[in-house]
Amino acid sequence: MTATDARSPEAYAREFQATIDADQRIEPRDWMPEAYRKTLIRQIAQHAHSEIIGMQPEGTWITRAPSLRRKAILLAKVQDEAGHGMYLYAAAETLGVDREELTELLVSARQKYSSIFNYPALSYADVGVIGWLVDGAAICNQVPLCRCSYGPYARAMVRICKEESFHQRQGFELLLAMCHGTAAQREMVQESVNRWWWPSLMMFGPADGDSPNTQQSMEWGIKRHTNDELRQRFVDMSVPQAEALGITLPDPDLRWNAERGAHDFGEPDWSEFQAVITGAGPANAQRLAHRRRAHENGAWVREAARAYADKRAKAVSA
Ligand code: 3HC
Repeated sequence: MTATDARSPEAYAREFQATIDADQRIEPRDWMPEAYRKTLIRQIAQHAHSEIIGMQPEGTWITRAPSLRRKAILLAKVQDEAGHGMYLYAAAETLGVDREELTELLVSARQKYSSIFNYPALSYADVGVIGWLVDGAAICNQVPLCRCSYGPYARAMVRICKEESFHQRQGFELLLAMCHGTAAQREMVQESVNRWWWPSLMMFGPADGDSPNTQQSMEWGIKRHTNDELRQRFVDMSVPQAEALGITLPDPDLRWNAERGAHDFGEPDWSEFQAVITGAGPANAQRLAHRRRAHENGAWVREAARAYADKRAKAVSA
């Protein structure tokens, strides 16, 4: 069913809902409610922005990696994030927006990116902790998106999740090496985890009761789990990994609840979360200024590519 059939709006809406109810995929040429399209553009664009901005914290450690092996791994990871951003901008463009327009919304702070990237990477252990916790949280949040009702987004996520697993594994392996190293290295890892643990929990978004988008996104099959469900999944996954590293997670309320079959844990600082997502985080201004500068510096490449494409199109049509 494409949006060019001569049918009543009710017929379109019925077929859209039947596709969602049958757990099938909505494709770009299918009719979809405007609100469905808009929330997908919002979420996919912010996801893409997160991948691109997310290159910055780790990028600062590429020139300072302690060995050629660590440098090569980190280069590959940061390069992957750029690719994730491209897949996601391409998925967003199937909804009728343009990546140039989305980038403008990002650099003018009219669209968000993940709160986590507004924290500075202060020590080399942060490279491992970002891989372990941030990419680990991303995996918890992104694997269900492989079953998102919107086809291009779901398909982009399949490849991204495969690469995300390498990201998480390389971070954990780096930390394992440091935790089996000197006392100073173990302290560096603990200090880093103390800084990144709570911001990683905030990546999953506000508590369900404070999430204006979750219910509708669940009904549309965009989200398959709520923010709190995925946050719980991440905590339960991380506790045994922290034990394997010999690291303490900085939450005095963290304990196994046999009755629930899950870990109880403390409440993130939601005022900090709100401050960070509204531009007042430790590194928001720096992240956007860097992205703005990179976009300006790359303008000549975009102009040259456009001029070449125009010339080719003229030659073909002549
Ligand atoms: N950072 C910034 N903004 C956030 C946020 C976060 N961690 N969590 C929620 N928000 C914003 C939402 O965007 C929304 O604002 P908006 O309406 O202006 O867009 C508001 O807070 C309310 O949140 P909701 O829970 O109602 O919003 P969503 O239903 O969109 O849920 C989400 C938020 C869980 C982040 C969801 O958008 C999502 O799953 N997005 C896709 C995954 C994603 O973007 N992950 C980001 C990390 S990417 C990454 O980690 C890269 C990896 O390689 C390291």
